Amino acid sequence: MERNTVKSVLLALVVSPAILTSAYAVGGAKPKPDAETAGTKSTPAVDRVKARGELVMCADPYNMPYSESTPEPNGLDVDIAREIASELGVKLGHYWWRQTSGRRSVRQLSEQKCDVFLGLPVSDDFVKGSRSMVFTKPYYMGGFAIIKRKDSKVASFDDLKDKKVGVQMVTVPDVRLATEGVKRSLHRTPDSAVKAILAGEIEVGVLTSAAAGWLAKKHGDKLEVLATTRQDFAYPMGIGVNKGDADLRDAINKAIDKIKADGRIQKTLDKYNVRNLKVGGAKKKSDASPATEAPKKEAAADPANEEGLFGTNVVADKKNIKRGKNHYKQACYKCHGPNVISGNPNNLPDLRTFKGTVEEYVGIVLAGRMSTNPSSTFNMPAFGEEGNIPYSMEEILQMWVYIQDQPKPGSAS
Ligand code: HEC
Repeated sequence: MERNTVKSVLLALVVSPAILTSAYAVGGAKPKPDAETAGTKSTPAVDRVKARGELVMCADPYNMPYSESTPEPNGLDVDIAREIASELGVKLGHYWWRQTSGRRSVRQLSEQKCDVFLGLPVSDDFVKGSRSMVFTKPYYMGGFAIIKRKDSKVASFDDLKDKKVGVQMVTVPDVRLATEGVKRSLHRTPDSAVKAILAGEIEVGVLTSAAAGWLAKKHGDKLEVLATTRQDFAYPMGIGVNKGDADLRDAINKAIDKIKADGRIQKTLDKYNVRNLKVGGAKKKSDASPATEAPKKEAAADPANEEGLFGTNVVADKKNIKRGKNHYKQACYKCHGPNVISGNPNNLPDLRTFKGTVEEYVGIVLAGRMSTNPSSTFNMPAFGEEGNIPYSMEEILQMWVYIQDQPKPGSAS
């Protein structure tokens, strides 16, 4: 049942070079007040919602513990949206949409299918990358937390060094723990990681706190989720509204204050066994400057742990490059050009000059991309197991090593 849904894809997306290599503390960032609308008195979006009698949320019909269209329990995002709607004096309405692709899902909001999109990371990076939205204040601290069997002695991230840690592939902990030299057990879904813990194959995992809490609840008293996480694994969760609806954002902020103060948020989190994470303990790299961080990565490249990218067996050898070339010809060539040389009228990016990291590349390929060129009719579809076009992680990484192998523009050939 647990899929690589929008929540985990979005968290994968925020693994941008900025987060990996800069001093951004992804936790604790505040949404910026919208300068254009601050101080205006008119409330067009609030009036629209009130006239309709409904605050409509975009939500996935099968994505517990966040949302589910079946009768109670509806999921924590739905329950919280219902409290907010009642504070605004309206009912809660739904626009159900399977959120398997991050970009396409969030687009439902800009296409005005709904008024609010809950459960978005209000981190600096994500906020900056979302041009069509403004964000409320966070309603709880989400992110990634340690889940373990109750009899395990693990008490903090410091205790993970000599353990094999269950992670969901291409999420923030997967990438960060890998660069820190921690051994990982890779899983496609949180469910599978939890099964491995229950079966005794691994002792601990680092999963989204929501999935971890919900799965721990399902397995009675065998599992426990730790309440404290690392700064760089903490993501304040907020609500996205369309930029033109900043008045609605302000009204929702007031509602969040109220339902936080009277305990309704905590009660909802408890219902689904989701921790409102605390940040503490070793601060790891989040406070370091990019310059002081760089050597750390080198130290983590442990030769005894020789493996390919992302824990797959993909390394940049002839075989993988050749396979990558074949996949590229099938999947990417039409838009990004033959031999990775872009020259089409839509001016799509020339991937030879892509400056991002492999993590960012994978995030883009899994989620797809809207063109930033208003006259372009090409948008990039989502690839990957859950995307519109099925490619495995290995195949996506083979394309990466192929792209990296191409001569850069301007170099002698
Ligand atoms: C249907 C057209 C289409 C296909 C097919 C396609 N892309 Fe894209 N790609 C785009 C568009 C559009 C963008 C965003 C351009 C922009 O930012 O305006 C993009 C952006 C990217 C970027 C980010 C580039 C940058 O510099 O920011 C990467 C990386 C990428 N694509 C990789 C791939 C790979 C790998 C494949 C094949 C698996 C692929 N794309 C297939 C249309 C496509």
